[in-house]
Amino acid sequence: MDPIVEAEVSQTAGRHHLYRGDCLTIMPALEPATVDVMVTSPPCNLDVSYRGYVDRRTEDDYLDWLVRIAGEVRRLMEPNGSFFLNLSGSSSGPWLPFELIVRLRPLFVLQNYITWIKSITTRADSVGHFKPIAGQRFLHHNSFPLNLPRWCSRLHGREDALVLDSFTGLGTTVLAAALEGARGIGIDVDPTYVATARARLAAIKKTQQSLAYV
Ligand SMILES: C[S@@+](CC[C@H](N)C(=O)[O-])C[C@H]1O[C@@H](n2cnc3c(N)ncnc32)[C@H](O)[C@@H]1O
Repeated sequence: MDPIVEAEVSQTAGRHHLYRGDCLTIMPALEPATVDVMVTSPPCNLDVSYRGYVDRRTEDDYLDWLVRIAGEVRRLMEPNGSFFLNLSGSSSGPWLPFELIVRLRPLFVLQNYITWIKSITTRADSVGHFKPIAGQRFLHHNSFPLNLPRWCSRLHGREDALVLDSFTGLGTTVLAAALEGARGIGIDVDPTYVATARARLAAIKKTQQSLAYV
């Protein structure tokens, strides 16, 4: 492995790996054609305040960056792998996810377009995560629940799949992989998020171990 990558690696025990570093540095050092399922939620260029990453680029720069990352994803994926890209537009940039999908046409076949209903209100009942928004004409753009990457793994359908998330944040995708009996790799540029992801993974492992003894 490249020494730059080696220095940035933080490895969890067991079948899962968490890497702290820029995904464009880490991914080129991983074995090609090994990933079965890719589930990722890139920063959406909405000026969201992450701990380290500054979520504000020009649209062209942002799209070029994601296309470069998608090229690496393509190299890492098994030919029959599944790539779940979770991306949202905003009220001021509603075309962004569609612009990206068009640019990814030379790399991937679009199989499904999944609309994720994050929150819903029926009469007096509200389900989901609601975030205050400015204005009455806009819908919400929130939350990454654990069930979402779990369903992605199941949809792909291969047992013991290798699941990668190049923007792993708090590690939800790797956790989901662990819960589905798959192997997970998570990459994030922020050391605090990686540490939290590692702690969440360790907690899940503990629960799984104690369940095994029941
Ligand atoms: C939308 S969040 C992902 C949230 C994640 N799905 C979770 O469950 O917490 C995007 C993440 O990308 C990370 N990030 C930004 N630029 C990155 C890069 N070049 N390489 C790796 N991670 C990066 C940010 O630190 C942030 O945690």
